[in-house]
Amino acid sequence: MRQILKKALLVLFVVLASLSCYAGKFEAGKGTFLLDGEPYVVKAAELHYPRIPKEYWDHRIKTVKALGMNTVCLYTFWNAHEPREGQFDFTGQNDLREFIKLCQANDMKVILRPGPYVCAEWEMGGLPWWLLKKKDIRLRENDPYFLERVDKFQKAVADQVSDLTVANGGPIIMVQVENEYGSYGIDKEYIANIRDMLRKNFGPDVMLFQCDWSSNFLNNGLDDLTWTINFGTGADIDAQFAPLKAARPDSPLMCSEFWSGWFDKWGANHETRPAADMVAGIDEMLSKGISFSLYMTHGGTSFGHWAGANSPGFAPDVTSYDYDAPVNEQGGVTPKYHALRKMMAKYTKGRMPAVPKAIPAIAVREFTFDEVAPLFSNLPEGIGCEDIRTMEEFDQGYGSMLYRTTLPALAEGATLTVRDAHDYAQVFVDGVFVGKLDRRTGDRELILPACPKGATLDILVEAMGRINFGRAIKDFKGITDKVTVTETRDGHDFVCDLKNWKVSLLPDELEFYNRGEFLPVGAFTPGPDGRLPRGVYRGTFTVSKPGDTFLNFENFGKGLVYVNGHALGRIWDMGPQQTLYTPGPWLKKGENEVVVFDILGPKKAVSEGLKLPVYDKLPYKMKKANGTAPKLDGLTPAFEGAFEGGNGWKQIDFGKPATGRFLVLEMTDAADASDYAAIAELYVLDNAGERVPREDWTTD
Ligand code: GLA
Repeated sequence: MRQILKKALLVLFVVLASLSCYAGKFEAGKGTFLLDGEPYVVKAAELHYPRIPKEYWDHRIKTVKALGMNTVCLYTFWNAHEPREGQFDFTGQNDLREFIKLCQANDMKVILRPGPYVCAEWEMGGLPWWLLKKKDIRLRENDPYFLERVDKFQKAVADQVSDLTVANGGPIIMVQVENEYGSYGIDKEYIANIRDMLRKNFGPDVMLFQCDWSSNFLNNGLDDLTWTINFGTGADIDAQFAPLKAARPDSPLMCSEFWSGWFDKWGANHETRPAADMVAGIDEMLSKGISFSLYMTHGGTSFGHWAGANSPGFAPDVTSYDYDAPVNEQGGVTPKYHALRKMMAKYTKGRMPAVPKAIPAIAVREFTFDEVAPLFSNLPEGIGCEDIRTMEEFDQGYGSMLYRTTLPALAEGATLTVRDAHDYAQVFVDGVFVGKLDRRTGDRELILPACPKGATLDILVEAMGRINFGRAIKDFKGITDKVTVTETRDGHDFVCDLKNWKVSLLPDELEFYNRGEFLPVGAFTPGPDGRLPRGVYRGTFTVSKPGDTFLNFENFGKGLVYVNGHALGRIWDMGPQQTLYTPGPWLKKGENEVVVFDILGPKKAVSEGLKLPVYDKLPYKMKKANGTAPKLDGLTPAFEGAFEGGNGWKQIDFGKPATGRFLVLEMTDAADASDYAAIAELYVLDNAGERVPREDWTTD
């Protein structure tokens, strides 16, 4: 008996041992990917774990799996994982390992995209702000300090998950090297450095790949990496892959970001994309055996201060990352989802998992904010500095700052020039509001009222998300250079460079917001602008059964919101987003606390919870930059002609040198007889064919 038992145990041990060191293999075969030697079409759903409340991770993975997907594609956001240099965080919402394990438990493969740069409409494209403390740093280049920090981050990621590759019996089939580097520059040596870090950390077996656009993937494509192409719904798929097929006839084909929708920017229309184009594109790819990742299948929310900003110009993104994706911000399935699922069923031999139950939303009755800590009576002690310094130079990453100095005696009409206020500045003289400077519209100047020598000038500057695309990601906050006052006397300009500042730091930290002295809101009446004082508002609401809701902030101005200590995100009555997704698991039965830091002040300190979000309300018209709007009457165009129809880069040559202040494209016909034409990207080339830098561009 003992002998039999011993034998049985031995067999069990051998089985367990062979299971635990099951060495799977994911590789590129001839024209197809191979998983354990069998052709494999990657059907990936892009999801970002920090954009989904942790309690819902499993629900979202199951929901995308029920679309017929077999893989989850994800980014890791360096700045979320290393908020301060050397302090790593892989816990809670940042628990990458747990998320990947959950994917595995749901029998989903994983594509890991650890950056270091990721774009993703995320603050600074995922790079940590503290890199900017080294002012001359060269981001995404072979700058020794940058590479040293990337190496440490990549090692930290690998420490969490490198044992979860298919070769180790885990779900990770592919790891991405950098992200769309072609939109940034040409530097194979840098890409090779990132590749080598990943090889060192993940071992020789994992498939490393690059993603780029059809037009530029060759610029940085390394011979030993797999190449994939990114493009959106509506694209001509054969045309997109044609250059890859020409360069590598045997390569498996994969669209590593097939854009399901698009992201919203403050002050711009809510974005949607037709379901039919998305479904048709995926259908076409699957019918041709082409792999894809649907970006985003569920976008979620850029909680807290994590939303980034687009460029050229400065177009900060809203908090919601709904993306018009098949699974909406709250995790609900949409008509787009059903249309996609129906088509996907054709490719899964009818075996589609059931769609998980919807998570109900609750309404919360209107509630008032009882207390306010007004900003100006709670300013932290200012730090003295002779010249302007940026936010990063004060060791602050996010939030606002107030720059204070005194003015020389000024006659009415002097011009205040702020170079540059990043991102939204409000100017006060002796406590009276004079005007605002909005970076989105390129504002730099304001006319000051007459004032005596020694009047106090305050510039309150709020940082929005750092730019996440292009060279402008090196995006310092606060005031970046200097502040001057110009008076014109007898036809001459007298410029005074303002010095001797006192700077109050207003970091985006709940502890800081709660530190002020709170007074009853009822003690204040709205000012001439109809608003209550700027400051921190606190209120509570009661729920009998916690559930997801959308808190409505239409009555508030601009700022950041916390509920029960969770950072919910940015608000701005500018729209189009007016409500914030408030996940049920972050609420409690009974009383719940809301803290709002409002840099404009609310019209009425009230809110309510709605069952549906408001994503498309734009109460104000976007103003053009002061005096810079182009006047085209009577001008002769530098070039008149036609672009070829269809997607992809189109280049026109003016034929002779052209100089000018504005570049205006007037579309007179859309080539395909439709009502509109659209431009995704625009570059101007100089005589040598080099791209003219776009950091200082603004758009009208
Ligand atoms: C690119 C980037 C993504 C994202 C999309 C737009 O493809 O790689 O991170 O920014 O654009 O949503």
